[in-house]
Amino acid sequence: MKLINTLFCIVSTICFISTVYATTTLLDSPRRIVSMGDLHGDLKNTKKILRLSGLIDENDHWSGGDTIYVQTGDVLDRGTDTIALYKLIQQLRKEAPEHGGLVIPLLGNHEIMNLAGDWRYVTKEETATFGGYNNRVRAFQKDGFLGEYLMQLNMTTKVDGTVFCHGGIHPNFARLGLDTINDYTHHDIEAYMASGGHADPHKIFGDKGPTWYRGYALADEPNICEFADKALTYMKAERMVMGHTVQRDGEIRTRCNGKIILVDIGISWVYGGYVGALEVVGDELTAIYENGRVSLTPPKNQPKAFSGVHLEL
Ligand SMILES: *[C@@H]1O[C@H](CO)[C@@H](O)[C@H](O)[C@H]1NC(C)=O
Repeated sequence: MKLINTLFCIVSTICFISTVYATTTLLDSPRRIVSMGDLHGDLKNTKKILRLSGLIDENDHWSGGDTIYVQTGDVLDRGTDTIALYKLIQQLRKEAPEHGGLVIPLLGNHEIMNLAGDWRYVTKEETATFGGYNNRVRAFQKDGFLGEYLMQLNMTTKVDGTVFCHGGIHPNFARLGLDTINDYTHHDIEAYMASGGHADPHKIFGDKGPTWYRGYALADEPNICEFADKALTYMKAERMVMGHTVQRDGEIRTRCNGKIILVDIGISWVYGGYVGALEVVGDELTAIYENGRVSLTPPKNQPKAFSGVHLEL
């Protein structure tokens, strides 16, 4: 009897412990986030990266489970696969939630430019995929099949402690909070489009706005890190992920001890066709490349950047 009791006790304790363990890991385990930068009209490489990151299967359907996939804008221009890329992203955006996942496409400066009729980077070949110029004009109008879709996208999003946006969020915008930035975007975009890119009351589409700003990518460290700290404090975030500024060596770059992460690696063949994505799981940062995974997790307990120099950016 005693032996059976002891056995029962051991078994139930193990069961209890493993149940508690399973529950806490389930509750505590952070979501997997995958992000990639500017796609610029290259469907082939985009699919390659989605497959490499486990987000699509061999039939191009969502296989990412509960992963959150954030695309930081500039899907179009330079290359030719505008329609096919938006179709793929829209399809994945429908499929992912059926598996507990989520696809978050954000606006880039090239989306905004096309909506406002600035077609500097549109090629003849790409226009032909719409069936000509007039069809393309219609597609980007507010009731066109791309205009309607793009106008409801957000400028920025925060997942756990990570903020995503196309260019970078200057402290002057970060101070407003992410919801206000998105509200201004949705509020101002129609007037901006109608005026051919002139009416921009909150300067949200301007050169220091979230789609164009390049300070975090180009300004010197450590000075720029003070700006990053300021912006991240306003947004109550740990790090900011952005595209827009091409890393010509094809590698995802971190700055300011992992608080700034640059994911535009020139995915499109126009820029060399580099293949790679960023994975964020909790505080673990990993670059996923064709030839393997590279940890980008910064060392812990780094001192705060302080230079005493104040930049006017
Ligand atoms: C934009 O952000 C809001 C607030 O986070 C969210 O509810 C909405 O679904 C987002 N829209 C898109 C198109 O992702």
